[in-house]
Amino acid sequence: MAYKIVVIPGDGIGKEITDAAVKVLQAADKKFGLDLQYTYKDAGGTAYDKYGKPLPEETLAACREADAVLFGAVGGDKWDHVDPALRPEKAILGLRKGLGLYANLRPVRIEEALVDYSPLKPELARGVDLVIVRELVGGIYFGDRCESETYHGVERAWDLENYSVPEVERITKLAFETARLRRGRVTSVDKANVLATSRLWRRTTEKVHAGYPEVELQHLYVDNCAMQLAIHPAQFDVIVTGNLFGDILSDEAAVVGGSIGMLPSASIGEQTSLYEPIHGSAPDIAGQGIANPMGTILSAAMLLRYSLHEVEAADAIEVAVRQTLADGVRTADLWKEGFRKVSTDEAASAVAECV
Ligand code: IPM
Ligand code: MN
Repeated sequence: MAYKIVVIPGDGIGKEITDAAVKVLQAADKKFGLDLQYTYKDAGGTAYDKYGKPLPEETLAACREADAVLFGAVGGDKWDHVDPALRPEKAILGLRKGLGLYANLRPVRIEEALVDYSPLKPELARGVDLVIVRELVGGIYFGDRCESETYHGVERAWDLENYSVPEVERITKLAFETARLRRGRVTSVDKANVLATSRLWRRTTEKVHAGYPEVELQHLYVDNCAMQLAIHPAQFDVIVTGNLFGDILSDEAAVVGGSIGMLPSASIGEQTSLYEPIHGSAPDIAGQGIANPMGTILSAAMLLRYSLHEVEAADAIEVAVRQTLADGVRTADLWKEGFRKVSTDEAASAVAECV
């Protein structure tokens, strides 16, 4: 039986990086006989230009029918001035909500070949192997908001953060289960010294933890966590946190690995899950064929692992990425003297050959 994959390239470098990942998937398909079938759909600024909206119903419907979704990136300055409700970013937010993608897994592992690229000293960067479990369909991203109102004679805007107990239970369970398969440590990140939502988060996490006595639980305030990620990132195994804190901490954690272009993510849904690199659409380098496709290629590996349960093929892609880097193949973001500078497509071909 064929697997149905919806590919959403999106905007900016989205097309180049999803083309690269599909090339690698095709190599894995050939080797492991997976029978992958691809359907391409529009979303983001590209969809706004064509249909006047960032997430056409047809795109969402196709995703609901699919076994998995591979997503590039959306956004760009070109659409900075469109109505906030129609911004390209609304496409990914709409997909998250529409597919119930409640958990975003962002693994950060520093490849030995890339230790020198970390902005941290090698002795701090070496051995980092953590995963951020970010709540993805709640919190301040999806609370009520007001773009502008007059209050006591001055203009103001507001965004509301709320979390319910079931929302926190669902995401923290997944974090404990993830930790159980790893090194058995969860760090829950909040701002419980100030925010009511964080105090509910902390109480609920502790209740859920009672069911996972073999996992160690630690709480950290988000400001302290941000600092710990910079001074001793190897201490972390699983970090679980809300939508906004997870957005910020995952970019910080990503850069520890040398390039944000390397980092994959899986957004786990009730049915269909979606896979995307954590970087954005990088309009400044779009169309030049120089983007680093590794984050998207590794996202495709996560797709094979979590949605299709094709573990061997997923392993093969991850090993191939590591091997390609060890062989000295580098896109511009990671290139330096003595290495082989390649385009996005050449990097993909190198990984595909290795698979
Ligand atoms: C991410 C992105 C999105 C987010 C944007 C594009 C809405 O930064 O996936 O981390 O903030 O969640
Ligand atoms: Mn982000």
